[in-house]
Amino acid sequence: MKVLVLGGAGFLGFTLVKKLLLRGDDVVLVDLEVSLKENFNISLLKDVSKSAEGTLFIIASSVGELCQSIIEGGATPYPIDDNISIIFNLATRASVNSTLNDPVGMSLNILDGTKSVLDASLVLNASVLHTSTSEMYGDPLEPQHESYTGNVDPMDLRSAYSEAKRMSETLCMAYNHQRGADARVVRIFNSYGPGMSLYDGRVVASFFRAYLSHATNEIGLNGGGAQSRSFCFVEDTIDGFLALMDLPRGGFKGPVNIGNPHGLKTMRELLDAQSEVVKVNASKIESKLGKINQVIVEETPMPNADPATRKPVITTAKLHLGWEPKTPFWEGINKYLDYCILEEEFVRNLQN
Ligand SMILES: NC(=O)c1ccc[n+]([C@@H]2O[C@H](COP(=O)([O-])OP(=O)(O)OC[C@H]3O[C@@H](n4cnc5c(N)ncnc54)[C@H](O)[C@@H]3O)[C@@H](O)[C@H]2O)c1
Repeated sequence: MKVLVLGGAGFLGFTLVKKLLLRGDDVVLVDLEVSLKENFNISLLKDVSKSAEGTLFIIASSVGELCQSIIEGGATPYPIDDNISIIFNLATRASVNSTLNDPVGMSLNILDGTKSVLDASLVLNASVLHTSTSEMYGDPLEPQHESYTGNVDPMDLRSAYSEAKRMSETLCMAYNHQRGADARVVRIFNSYGPGMSLYDGRVVASFFRAYLSHATNEIGLNGGGAQSRSFCFVEDTIDGFLALMDLPRGGFKGPVNIGNPHGLKTMRELLDAQSEVVKVNASKIESKLGKINQVIVEETPMPNADPATRKPVITTAKLHLGWEPKTPFWEGINKYLDYCILEEEFVRNLQN
């Protein structure tokens, strides 16, 4: 099978592309940031592709440009044709900082991107995986079933991300209904693991970064760290995507929660757990990176509209996909630490 992975150089793209190549699919990876020199994930994926059954094509392009060329038709410089059967659309900057720094860019990137991808899917007659988010539930009732329609304040800047994702779900359903598209929707609850750069800004990455990186040894714990999230190991998250897209056309399209209801941790518990993992692996870390940083934890104010908690109900995923997460937190976080050590070595080599 030939598939298109948009945003394939990012966190989730890394494990998705790896799994697709290993199961024998040909993958066209498209991302704005594919510089081999600077992108650690791309360098790892190139290695995977050497021994995998599937072939990896890498294209440096924006989603908008690529989809435009598909929609306009004719000869393109891209290895894209009617054989593409699935488009995985992961191309969104997903961190809260990106949303707060550029809420206009964030909303338009998501909305324009979703529309372009849906239009291109009609030309290629391909199915689409739309990656929505638990953020669409806003500051929610707990736990969240897909039937809960959410509690989002459209006037808050942070909602640039959640509201654009909500509208994108609607756009997917509208294209399915009105134009015969086959768009399927996953709502992802905080994933973590290999592929997420130490410098990404998301919480699990930032906690390890403070211990491992030369960049900073400081951790800001918003509101003292009482808010909680459910953390799902990335291999499990991606197995959920594949289970949905392996279903025959014309069947279940979601929305479906992909997350780990047993992975619930407050930010304080998460920090304590990651600090313990660093302590247990101290000699391995120091043999590769030198001395571990003395970390300074500072209580920082709680940002506006930061939801107190999020926890998925996954009965829909169990019923329709036969999916549930399998990886215990300790196993996942140790694998992530190994990735972070390798990435930090890669970054320091670039700087030397
Ligand atoms: N990681 C999570 O826990 C999580 C949770 C909820 C939803 N999601 C959704 O899953 C998807 C993937 O998330 P991720 O964590 O891998 O994000 P990421 O930021 O790590 O990766 C996204 C990739 O898309 C690329 N990109 C962004 N805009 C682009 C454009 N216009 N053209 C081409 N490339 C572009 C970026 O360069 C990046 O490599 C996103 O849609 C995100 O909203 C992720």
